[in-house]
Amino acid sequence: MATLKPEKISRLFPSRWHRIYTIAKLRSDPLYNAVYNELEGSQLPLLDIGCGLGILAFYLRERDQLFPIKAIDYDQRKIIAAKNAARNHLSLDFIHGDIRDGLPDFSGNITILDILQFFSPKEQATLLRNAALSVARGGKLIIRSGISDNSLRFKTTRLGDRIAKATFWMKAAPTCYPEVHSIVKIMEQSGLRGEAHPLWGKTPFNNYLMVFNRD
Ligand SMILES: C[S@@+](CC[C@H](N)C(=O)[O-])C[C@H]1O[C@@H](n2cnc3c(N)ncnc32)[C@H](O)[C@@H]1O
Repeated sequence: MATLKPEKISRLFPSRWHRIYTIAKLRSDPLYNAVYNELEGSQLPLLDIGCGLGILAFYLRERDQLFPIKAIDYDQRKIIAAKNAARNHLSLDFIHGDIRDGLPDFSGNITILDILQFFSPKEQATLLRNAALSVARGGKLIIRSGISDNSLRFKTTRLGDRIAKATFWMKAAPTCYPEVHSIVKIMEQSGLRGEAHPLWGKTPFNNYLMVFNRD
């Protein structure tokens, strides 16, 4: 991986907590590099669903990925921070909105990273189906999620999300963690093909990366 200094991205945020969080995420979590590897060189726009502070968008820009990025989150504080951080970047569009009300009009690649656990199984299925519909030909739907199983990693994942709610970092507590096979089934029904594998890095969480393609 090209040397990327987390501090460079963290400096986009005036809040000390946002800077510390961004550095910790970029140092410990293989997520952003994994998504970069999937999207490198793509000519399609990206929709990032549940973007938080927009770390993925800034990471991709820092690594010279210049496709337009639309990113949505229902946490007003995070969207304001992301918009401020994006003021010197072109084609980064941060939108405040609840994706349970539907997705923006879009066709391209889509990322759904660490957000499925906030929804009921029915809401997850609706989101996944709608997202699959918005994947362009030749595009990808990239999902990262904590996966429900009997492991200690899963219990740690759930505890982490509960702490995030208790400390007000997240607006909601986790509702339901999906299983890989239920996601794969919905994707296949939607005409997308792909696979899943663990993506743990230095984290103690039970996270999987799932990448689905529309041919
Ligand atoms: C764990 S964070 C992940 C942030 C980002 N995807 C990343 O990986 O860096 C989950 C995000 O989903 C957002 N979220 C949860 N429910 C949402 C909803 N119904 N609509 C939009 N965003 C939501 C939260 O506000 C939070 O920013």
